[in-house]
Amino acid sequence: MNNNRSVLTSTGDTVDLPELAVRLKNTSVSVIKEMTYLGALEQNKGKDIVSLGVGLPFYPAPDFIHQHAIKAIKNKKDIDKYTLLTGLPELRTITAALSQKLLGIETSSDDILITPGSMAGLLYSMLTLVNPGDEVILPSPYFSSYGEQVSIAGGIAVPVPMIEDKKTGYRLDVVNIKKAITKKTKAVVINNPQNPTGAVFLEEDLRSLAEILYETKIYVITDEVYDFLIYDDTSYFNIASIKKLWPRVIRCCSLSKKYGMMGWRIGFLHTNKKLLMHILKIHDANIVCAPHISQEAAIAALTGPQGVVNNHRKWLKRNRDIICKRLDNLPDLFSYVKPCGTYYVFPRYNLPISSIEFAKKLLYEAAVVTVPGIGFGPEGEYHLRLSFGSPEDAINKSFDRIELWWNVKKRSF
Ligand SMILES: Cc1ncc(COP(=O)(O)O)c(C=O)c1O
Repeated sequence: MNNNRSVLTSTGDTVDLPELAVRLKNTSVSVIKEMTYLGALEQNKGKDIVSLGVGLPFYPAPDFIHQHAIKAIKNKKDIDKYTLLTGLPELRTITAALSQKLLGIETSSDDILITPGSMAGLLYSMLTLVNPGDEVILPSPYFSSYGEQVSIAGGIAVPVPMIEDKKTGYRLDVVNIKKAITKKTKAVVINNPQNPTGAVFLEEDLRSLAEILYETKIYVITDEVYDFLIYDDTSYFNIASIKKLWPRVIRCCSLSKKYGMMGWRIGFLHTNKKLLMHILKIHDANIVCAPHISQEAAIAALTGPQGVVNNHRKWLKRNRDIICKRLDNLPDLFSYVKPCGTYYVFPRYNLPISSIEFAKKLLYEAAVVTVPGIGFGPEGEYHLRLSFGSPEDAINKSFDRIELWWNVKKRSF
């Protein structure tokens, strides 16, 4: 059972149905999508809405990826067909080689499954490992979909609060993660850099966690969607590079944000071959294969010029600096930990109202979409998640509106 549900109930005007499977009674659409939906409703009424809500970077996929895909459509005879269940052999080989180079862990293409985004890999992981009543530890606040995925698998999400410190940033609370482990714990999810806090976890904390997990049968599921997006001279350490954790590691990797390819729905899962053979049952029953054309585009992305990734990082760092400056101008409303990675900041606000009430006020009274922190687990309450993946002018316009709203409303709190 997920414990941060029902934060909003607007999407599709959901009503309870007696015939519904229990797994869906305990599950809801992520609060991120719900706020986007509410924003769209306002827009449909003709209102000018700006968004710091949804986690989309503003840049498109680079032209060389588009050109490769166009060529594949024109010239590749079997482009309209399914690929092998596991994915195009060439793409598996490329991602295996990249994984081995990144982690220093011997990897063959047999350890790789090409997936429709990392989200599929994450859901497959839960469905493969979690029995009803099993527990999955989520350092909290956490990406809301993890809770839903655990719940769909019949498991129990166990949020373990991270340490929130303005100076050191958000840190894993390894001592409390250890205390949260029970006989039912199946996995710990490590999303590094982390959505929604923008934290990049310290190597020493990840190594301490690995020491604890090594003694158990618990899997580490990594969500590496933002692994390219680290700012300043923050050092990044991937827990999956710790050899002794293997084979109990599942890496969920993605091209979505790195190459601006969210809509292509393409990523890959990396684990041990024995487990992969079972994960395939879910993949087969679900989608047969990741979209063929997207696999072709992924080959172009991973083998093409990587300067584009540096540009994406550079643009988003500029946005990070802009949003931090704008937050600094509102010290009586917000305090925050400066994000070292991702394109999210998770400010704490200084108002006696819930994060849902606050996000709704900002939507209906200031025409700005934000995401209420409660959607990211209990530790998220009294925070908002703000995305700075939006273009610079949307960030500035949003904050102009929030400042105006605050100047008018502050006396009423
Ligand atoms: C932490 C995290 N994991 C996974 C995803 C989904 O990634 P993909 O597009 O690869 O499915 C997102 C998207 O915002 C995310 O923020």
